Amino acid sequence: MREFLGLSKISPRICHLLQEIGRVGKENAQSVYVVGGFVRDLLLGRENLDIDIVVEGDAIDFAYQLATIWDGEVQIHQKFKTATVTRLDGLKLDFVSARNETYLSPGALPSVEYGTIAEDLRRRDFSINALAVQLQPDTFGEIVDCTDGLHDLRAGRIRALHEQSFIDDPTRIFRAIRYEARYRFQIVESDQQRIRNAINRGVLNLISGQRLRNEIDHILSEASAPQMVRRIDQFNIFSALHPTWKISPNFNVLWRAARQAIEWGTTSLPHDPINTKAILWMTLLNTPEAIKTVSSRLALESQLCTKLSVQAQLEHDLNTLSASSKPSEVYQLLHLYPLEPLVFALMQPNQPNWRGEQIANYLTHLKDVQPLITGDDLIQRGLKPGRAFSDLLWQALAAQLDGKVPTTQEIYQFLDDEK
Ligand code: CTP
Repeated sequence: MREFLGLSKISPRICHLLQEIGRVGKENAQSVYVVGGFVRDLLLGRENLDIDIVVEGDAIDFAYQLATIWDGEVQIHQKFKTATVTRLDGLKLDFVSARNETYLSPGALPSVEYGTIAEDLRRRDFSINALAVQLQPDTFGEIVDCTDGLHDLRAGRIRALHEQSFIDDPTRIFRAIRYEARYRFQIVESDQQRIRNAINRGVLNLISGQRLRNEIDHILSEASAPQMVRRIDQFNIFSALHPTWKISPNFNVLWRAARQAIEWGTTSLPHDPINTKAILWMTLLNTPEAIKTVSSRLALESQLCTKLSVQAQLEHDLNTLSASSKPSEVYQLLHLYPLEPLVFALMQPNQPNWRGEQIANYLTHLKDVQPLITGDDLIQRGLKPGRAFSDLLWQALAAQLDGKVPTTQEIYQFLDDEK
């Protein structure tokens, strides 16, 4: 039975663009389709502006024609025979030639040849992602479904298209988990077994650190990330990636703290760019051993590693503070740390109120205090740089932080008294 996409589900602007693409296809006597996530999400009633166009023929040439009509820019990825057109309104569309792929070795990127739309859809990961919609004017909106994807979409099933799918491309294990939790679908039982088998065969060792890291980043940015993390853990994926990697039994508490930290950081520290990904990674990696080994396996960049690895020292340092610690003492300890572990520490439950107040005071106030006097001022007063010199500067700043010396004159008086 021929099925058509309800055009009323597409915004008029996007519908117009797709019709324009279809017209160019007709002029070129080439079939063109919109495919993948856009179609899947449209059928599920979700907005998705990630528009992937498949052309039976040369997609790069096709993308240039559209870019000329739209006055857009083209970026070409010769190796994969794909092009991205960025329109003046900022919308990006990916154009790819219908292709046949073969995996030369598990975990490697595939080698690519031109193919038909049916071949292109069959080489994809899951049936729900293997749906295309025709764009030429006479068949506009007709759904191409060669893998029973519509049926699976309606039944809420994630089903891979090949027995070897998770071995050819182990990142699909993460993708299956992502779709399952995002749409509250179920990975079919046979695929769950294939995922377990693939993991037992060690396929995860074949993926590069960078690709693994991308998959986990992707998961952390999803609204249902906690469910995905739990599912990854159920498949023993973290421990397969490294035996030291264990998800905390308090993961849900940590996740809530991370979300609150991001919200607090964005509203209370509008001038300090916070790396939200780093805060989310803190929920996954909490022991020094795991941070070290997993950072190296996933090729995490050194800034992120630092932010993760100072957590234990920060916790230790915070325990040296008391309710009566002076602001200068708080500053002295905390100014050594990057923002993200501090904001995360602020949101940890079960800590005394005064501790949260000290961290918040440091982040919103103390860290931005400008010293009333600087090294130059001291030099002008005849002092020579050296150890005593930095001690004096610190004493001046500490007095200022503790509210003892609100003016420059008072600071000099204070320093003279201290001598
Ligand atoms: N694809 C695949 N195997 C992969 C990655 C991608 O078969 N390992 C195919 C799927 O058909 C997918 C399409 O390429 O729909 C586009 O990939 P991507 O943009 O990553 O997926 P989306 O479906 O858009 O998923 P998401 O909504 O999570 O971005």
